[in-house]
Amino acid sequence: MSETPTLVTCGLPYTNGPCHIGHLRTYIPADFYVRYLRRSGEQVVFICGSDNHGTPIVISAEQQSITPREMSERYHHHFDTTFQRMHICFDHFGMTDNPTNHARTRSIVQRLIDNGHVYAKTISQSYCPQCERFLPDRYVEGVCPHCGMMARGDECDQGCGKHLEPGELLKPVCKICGGRAEFRDQEHFFFRLGNFSPFLEQYLPGLGGTSNARNYGLGWVKEGLHDWCITRTLDWGVRFPGRDDLVVYVWVDAPIGYISFTEEYMTATGGDWTRLWCGDGKVIHFIGQDIIYHHCVFWPSLLKGAGYGLPDAVVASGMVKIDDKTFSKTRGYVVWTNDDYLDQGLCPDYLRYYLLSYTSHTKELNFSWKVFAERVNNELVDTLGNFIYRTTHFAYKKCGGIPEGEADTAVLETIAAAIRDVDAAVKSYEFKGAVDAMMALASYGNTYIQTQAPWRMMREDPAGASQVIRNCLQLVKALSLLFEPVLPEKAQKAWELLGYTDAVSDHVVSEGLSGEFGAGLPEPAILFEKIEDDRVAALDAVLKKRVEEAKMKEKQLEIISIDEFARLDLRIARVLSAEPVPGSEKLLRLIVDLGDEHRQVVSGIAQWYAPHDLVGQDVVLLANLKPAKIFGVESNGMILAAGEDASLLVPLRPVKPGTRIK
Ligand code: 2FM
Ligand code: ZN
Repeated sequence: MSETPTLVTCGLPYTNGPCHIGHLRTYIPADFYVRYLRRSGEQVVFICGSDNHGTPIVISAEQQSITPREMSERYHHHFDTTFQRMHICFDHFGMTDNPTNHARTRSIVQRLIDNGHVYAKTISQSYCPQCERFLPDRYVEGVCPHCGMMARGDECDQGCGKHLEPGELLKPVCKICGGRAEFRDQEHFFFRLGNFSPFLEQYLPGLGGTSNARNYGLGWVKEGLHDWCITRTLDWGVRFPGRDDLVVYVWVDAPIGYISFTEEYMTATGGDWTRLWCGDGKVIHFIGQDIIYHHCVFWPSLLKGAGYGLPDAVVASGMVKIDDKTFSKTRGYVVWTNDDYLDQGLCPDYLRYYLLSYTSHTKELNFSWKVFAERVNNELVDTLGNFIYRTTHFAYKKCGGIPEGEADTAVLETIAAAIRDVDAAVKSYEFKGAVDAMMALASYGNTYIQTQAPWRMMREDPAGASQVIRNCLQLVKALSLLFEPVLPEKAQKAWELLGYTDAVSDHVVSEGLSGEFGAGLPEPAILFEKIEDDRVAALDAVLKKRVEEAKMKEKQLEIISIDEFARLDLRIARVLSAEPVPGSEKLLRLIVDLGDEHRQVVSGIAQWYAPHDLVGQDVVLLANLKPAKIFGVESNGMILAAGEDASLLVPLRPVKPGTRIK
């Protein structure tokens, strides 16, 4: 490679769960972009890898009784193969836990230290006295200091979405044992992010990519930046230089993965990675909107501080909704790439088309199987597929191959205009606009063949009919080249229907204007198949079932800590008297003895017990339930009973009234 290639990267997936449509919303446009640049004759290196460190991976691995490395390898392989199945063609897919990344991270952190951008500070951090350990990030849950919602140690995931620094969380609870955590002092290391505000104010306005990335980034800088704690008390991760008890925060070594994976790839292929990261190379990051902060604030500051080159563009995709509901794995609003899509025999190109053409890259994408099928059926099958089939079928059957001569100027001009439209749209990261311009060319072809009707012309004007087909074949050629970045598998098939035996991806889009064709036409074939209504119903049913199951699960009670249980004042109560509540068939008014006091309790057990059967009986009372009036009678507690027929809970051996239940 003589010229410096453009480097395109994708956000690195964590290795603690499978690939879903949310991932694809970022990776498919990135792959489209890379393929498009290559179809335009540009040199591109396309890099990604798995993000192996951080507490969620350690916690998931602990739950499955495997090591974090085993867990990471499992999901690393999963993502690697899934991406290949979706025709996402990374040149290299690395692992952040690999030696290159450990070495690169330590070297960068050392440079930051040497350059005075890191300082030590003792902070008070969540510590679990039962488990005898510090609780970094997701090992702890508590109350967000900003909005008061329940939050994880490093992020207010259910409330305001703010990043939380170690020790900020209020009322921390240990995620391992459920016990109340306390705060203990520990020395940590901080990156002087605040010092980088002037640099970011000058860098961000010129950052390429989508405006959401630039604007959010600038917004945060204007709000004021806080220094970042870049160490964690964990075993799993990249060791902080000079400290055996600390690793660097996952958001340090993860983006450094972009560099070390480039390094691995360039070294293996005889290239020079420093030209990309320390020279004149162009670096473009594709990410999800939720990690703009990390890529537009933290990452450029780290690079700047360590003396590396800076990203040229950040392209941030909007979020995904499923059936108009916020994407959520726990609530079942998710589409899994393998289980729900590829393993159902659905063509990867269909989903690529849908994701690229649904809406602008930065807008929210609302997935539904119904609309997915409509788009496939109306556009891929009825427009593009129909045009390619009519053209190749007619040429093969009636013209005996590709008619002699050149395409008409008007047709060539239409193709050239489409190429220009696509190019302009891709250059401004308007992928939907690009795909729409391609489909508009297919539509033009369809209308053209329909109005010219060569099948009617054939008898009276065979030369005219041949010219129409020649024009249509030119359009099919251009469409194969243009659509390759969207539909790599189908574009290759279309290319072969024109008699080519090589890869369409070895060609550039501008060849769509040239008159060269393959040796002869093969037997025509149908490229796209409709997705029928019963298929849509079956796919929808899987989604609905998952949502229902998630709802059932949610109804099951969450795990509580022993401290939370201790808040219930459960006591043995002896029934002193019992009588019906006037006007109610279900309620009894009981007076119970709690040892040092008598209580009045209303209980819905009249159907199952006669009042005189209860007198003298010891039962269990929830004694600290908020008093309530039931049928006008005050009730100070609740008698515990089990099952549909209210079987009362009673002690097996005699105990004194008022005895606390523990
Ligand atoms: O948010 C995530 O899923 C992270 N694993 C992305 C990391 S991208 C990069 F910076 F490495
Ligand atoms: Zn919050």
